[in-house]
Amino acid sequence: VNIIVTDSYEASCGEAANQLLSVIKDNPQACLGLATGGTAQGVYPYLVEAYKQQVVSYTEIRTVNLDEYIGLKPDHPQSYRHYMDTYFFDHIDINPLNTYIPSGSQLLQPEITNFSRILEIWPRDVQLLGIGVNGHIGFNEPGGVLQAGVHIATLDTATIQANARFFASEDEVPKTAITMGVGDILQAGKIVLLATGSQKAVVLKKLLTGEEVTTQVPCTLLKLHRDVTVILDRELAWQVG
Ligand code: F6R
Repeated sequence: VNIIVTDSYEASCGEAANQLLSVIKDNPQACLGLATGGTAQGVYPYLVEAYKQQVVSYTEIRTVNLDEYIGLKPDHPQSYRHYMDTYFFDHIDINPLNTYIPSGSQLLQPEITNFSRILEIWPRDVQLLGIGVNGHIGFNEPGGVLQAGVHIATLDTATIQANARFFASEDEVPKTAITMGVGDILQAGKIVLLATGSQKAVVLKKLLTGEEVTTQVPCTLLKLHRDVTVILDRELAWQVG
């Protein structure tokens, strides 16, 4: 695992954006695996700015997102489709047909099939990841087993509590999500994980300094990939030790 320590969360976002832009520079038809959540949010303004400055064009780029809440319509303000449109797609020259986010409001079984098929026909050159307080990646939550492929995940209590900040109350946070499996995540050519905040220190330590690979801390499975870059700010790095 490569580690990049930056001065600040903002600098980390700029660095993550640069990693994605360099993939696009090498391949203007690249497929980007994208993430939502509070941490990833700061990356998108840099990717939008690069388009505005004519450093990059997204006309031939494809994107596929990690996950989506079950039960939220695409236009729900907390859906990940809405997030991606608002922070990224509405501001760039990407073809909307080339952006895939699993749907949380279709019949589940056909949507699992669709999502799996997309992952097959659109191999990702790079996958952006955040990390949950419990070490989840995508919505692959800690447990005795992890799923390799696309599945419906039941959100961990810790995840529901962490995500309640985006909803009016904890009760409104969906309890399930459709997500890539860990096998899907590991199939990306390159993985860029962005982390900030002291509540991520414990699980990051298990990824960066621990010896184990365990389904109880899903991010540790990233040790099985040959090209993972973790970007974190100095404050968090200090807490990871
Ligand atoms: C988002 C995702 C999640 C988040 C993680 C961290 O698409 O798959 O794994 O990356 O929950 O979320 P934040 O950044 O809000 O702490």
